[in-house]
Amino acid sequence: MSELHEVRTLDEAQKAVQEMLQKQTQMQNTAHTIKQALNKDYAILDSLVSDISKQKKELERLSRSLTKIEKLPGQSKEEVDKLQKQMHPVRDTLKKLHHQNAPETGSLFVRLFLGQVNVKQFRDGERFRLKQEYEKFKRKTNPQFMLFIVFLYFFPKSDALITIWQIWVLYYYTTLALRENILKVNGSTIKIWWILHHYLSITAALTMLLWPPSSYVFQNLFYTFIFFSGAQGLVQILINRYQQGQLYKLVAMGKANMMDVAGEAEGWLGSDLGWTPSAMFLLPFLLFVQFFQLYISYELFSASYSQFRQKEWIEWQCIASAFVFLTLGIGNLVTTITTYLHKFEKHKKH
Ligand code: COA
Repeated sequence: MSELHEVRTLDEAQKAVQEMLQKQTQMQNTAHTIKQALNKDYAILDSLVSDISKQKKELERLSRSLTKIEKLPGQSKEEVDKLQKQMHPVRDTLKKLHHQNAPETGSLFVRLFLGQVNVKQFRDGERFRLKQEYEKFKRKTNPQFMLFIVFLYFFPKSDALITIWQIWVLYYYTTLALRENILKVNGSTIKIWWILHHYLSITAALTMLLWPPSSYVFQNLFYTFIFFSGAQGLVQILINRYQQGQLYKLVAMGKANMMDVAGEAEGWLGSDLGWTPSAMFLLPFLLFVQFFQLYISYELFSASYSQFRQKEWIEWQCIASAFVFLTLGIGNLVTTITTYLHKFEKHKKH
């Protein structure tokens, strides 16, 4: 069927159905041919991956043999060292080739959800879409995050609302961690801390979920949690805008296509745009939320300590959350400062 037009008679309808059937046969044949070609290419890819693994083993064996040869009498240490040095770039290339081509599941976290399946994308544009979808998920869920906070502020006594919010937060962080793991397999240079930080957030969400809302400490700190979550939600919106801005800049610079050749450059795209005004603008807000996390940790430790002093039952949720917030605060601060210092160094060099 060449063009879409309204069918007016039975004859025309019969003709249209015939054309559709013909086109369908054509499409089925094309799909079959593509599948065969893809399977052939995947078989070549499998054999390449197997060659890479073999060469990796050979290289390690060779390196071990060289260490033994070095100890034999009359052998030149310099010559052995020279050979060992020559092997460094070979090792690096093998590592890169493996990262680019071997199918990967990613971490245990991904395996727990998806099983032992390959999550590496080979299709052009797909890696970039993964990243875009990740940012889109954040953009779409940020307003929901904020809406919950507003409702919780006005209905603090609703246990059902608190529980739904905590379950939602659990879903939110689990989704983020899962997607970040998949992005990492596909060449993202995301620092491992940001993924760990979401595992910790999952732990915090679970702990809060198991914390009876009737608890005195929980009720006492309820508004602190709400103010913190509100501040965090606003900062998440700013972070999301910043990250989307980075993505647009990469597209504008024509760098986005590099995402499709994972690991060929340092990282999958060398996406660090360095010391930008938008990164500078973000910094005070980040620091505010991170110090807020440390303050919450302090409040939770104080609450546990006063329960201890009054010989009351120390709620495990309180002490566990205190440790989680402390780790989050310190880890986020250290990683953020290190990232900014790195950006600054990069800026100075250019
Ligand atoms: N979460 C998810 N991905 C992140 C991330 C984060 N917090 N920080 C950086 N990344 C990703 C980047 O998108 C980039 O990905 P790519 O390789 O797939 O393109 C990669 O990691 C490298 O980014 P980098 O150049 O190191 O940093 P950046 O300029 O993208 O962002 C910060 C730097 C400091 C703005 C960012 O790390 C950040 O927002 N940190 C604070 C997070 C925080 O404190 N959250 C808790 C309070 S809401």
